[in-house]
Amino acid sequence: MAESIEFFELNTGAKIPSVGLGTWDAAPNAVGESITTAVKVGYRHIDCAHIYGNEKQIGVALKKVFEDGLVKREDLWITSKLWNTDHAPEDVPKALDRTLQDLQLDYVDLYLIHWPAHPDILPSTWRAMESLFDSGKARAIGVSNFSVKKLEDLLAVARVTPAVNQVEIHPVWQQPKLHEYCKSKGIHLTGYSPLGSSGTGILKNRILTTVAKKLGKTPAQVALRWGLQMGHSVVPKSTNEARIKENFDVFDWSIPENLFAKFSEIEQMRQISGSFLVGKTYGFFKSVEELWDGEQ
Ligand code: A2P
Repeated sequence: MAESIEFFELNTGAKIPSVGLGTWDAAPNAVGESITTAVKVGYRHIDCAHIYGNEKQIGVALKKVFEDGLVKREDLWITSKLWNTDHAPEDVPKALDRTLQDLQLDYVDLYLIHWPAHPDILPSTWRAMESLFDSGKARAIGVSNFSVKKLEDLLAVARVTPAVNQVEIHPVWQQPKLHEYCKSKGIHLTGYSPLGSSGTGILKNRILTTVAKKLGKTPAQVALRWGLQMGHSVVPKSTNEARIKENFDVFDWSIPENLFAKFSEIEQMRQISGSFLVGKTYGFFKSVEELWDGEQ
């Protein structure tokens, strides 16, 4: 039977809307309209980051949707992320202030460390994140792109357990070990690039397309619904009105158990390698294996 999955409860008690609009790679001149469209369609969750270079335009759009009475601030979930160059503890509050100014908000619902880019100072970065949580400017705090190993290291020093780990997770990169670990620690997983990101072709996967055909849905809807049924929130990016609508039409139907079981047969492959963290620019990781701790 179909089961509506509209929210997930975090370890803070807050409820995160299960489908959010991704804004990575959304062109600054298109992102504003996609926010307005998404809010009209019913999205109540927008996933942002300083590094996406479009928070100012998102802020203008948010101001307008509030002014026009399309949605109230308290009914919208806004996530943003701390960029890699702002991990020094004194830079963390400044980075959030800049994001809040750009978004024209006085708090975010969730603030994430975008990448585990500086393991040497991570405990002090996290303490600065905890202060933001205490201040109420970030109503929840979490991380992104953390492996089990990196979460274990963080939990060993954390006063506040991260509420969320946002990672690449979808039918072609299911990360069962990370899923089980996060579940056991009460850390919610959000799946970024839940459609495998542009150009990777995961929506052409044979099992996805077969299940989609059987259910009369699109492969994108099936990929998103798989995430929801796994207990993950998903943040598909689109700036196209039809696809924004399509990606939100995932609540009043479900993948039945016999078809859901087929997903375990899908050949697994990470799509987002994080290779930009290896070598010169950040210099901390000698290899992609070290970044992900060799985890699958
Ligand atoms: P567009 O913005 O033109 O819709 P991800 O969220 O996994 O990073 O994927 C985003 C990419 O997938 C973008 O290129 C986006 O393009 C495209 N996309 C978004 N929704 C769909 C959909 N329902 N079907 C196919 N492609 C989609």
